[in-house]
Amino acid sequence: MSKPKAQNIVWHEGIVTRSDRETIAGHKGCTIWMTGLSGSGKSTLAVALEKALIDRGVRTFVLDGDNVRHGLNKDLGFSPEDRNENIRRIGEVAKLFTEAGVVNITAFISPYRIDRDRVREIMDDGDFIEAFVDCPVEICEQRDPKGLYKKARAGEIPEFTGISAPYEEPEKPEITVKTGESSEEEALQELISYLDGKGYLGS
Ligand code: ADX
Repeated sequence: MSKPKAQNIVWHEGIVTRSDRETIAGHKGCTIWMTGLSGSGKSTLAVALEKALIDRGVRTFVLDGDNVRHGLNKDLGFSPEDRNENIRRIGEVAKLFTEAGVVNITAFISPYRIDRDRVREIMDDGDFIEAFVDCPVEICEQRDPKGLYKKARAGEIPEFTGISAPYEEPEKPEITVKTGESSEEEALQELISYLDGKGYLGS
């Protein structure tokens, strides 16, 4: 972890522990880190998962790339450096949510392996669940839900992931959902089964 810029700062321990929070929630805190191309279905899956978990009484929250870029990260663009910073900040926020005992779902392209690995490193073992939302770029481009691939092809969006900027696939994700082949419902059920099977959702 890099050192803070500020000096003379001292960590202040709380009295309430993470375990206290998880006991009240009845389940663990964790971060389901969805990564994949624009149009692969991350946001759709994230909100569907959030709804399914809330219906089961699980404390959950979605952090979504497009949304976070309207607020916390409104000062960041899409250069490699800005994407690094985007993911670094979200990683820290995700860690806070996780320690608060929330099943936190993130939906960011997060195209660089090193950025995702850094988030994994700042979290405790088992807290970071990398979920690869795997959809071929051709299918994302065909779907083009926001019309961005069309704009990128026309040269109107520089550094567009999958077209003119890289996407580095995860090497060992905890789970992969193939959204080019499976339906949204199937992918959702795969995610829920994974979380259930690993005991993240309590009894
Ligand atoms: S990330 O690469 O830094 O992780 P993030 O998930 O926050 O990206 O934002 C991606 C969203 O921003 C896309 O879903 C798309 O709607 C929009 N977007 C705008 N410009 C770009 C671009 N150059 N590359 C990728 N996505 C872009």
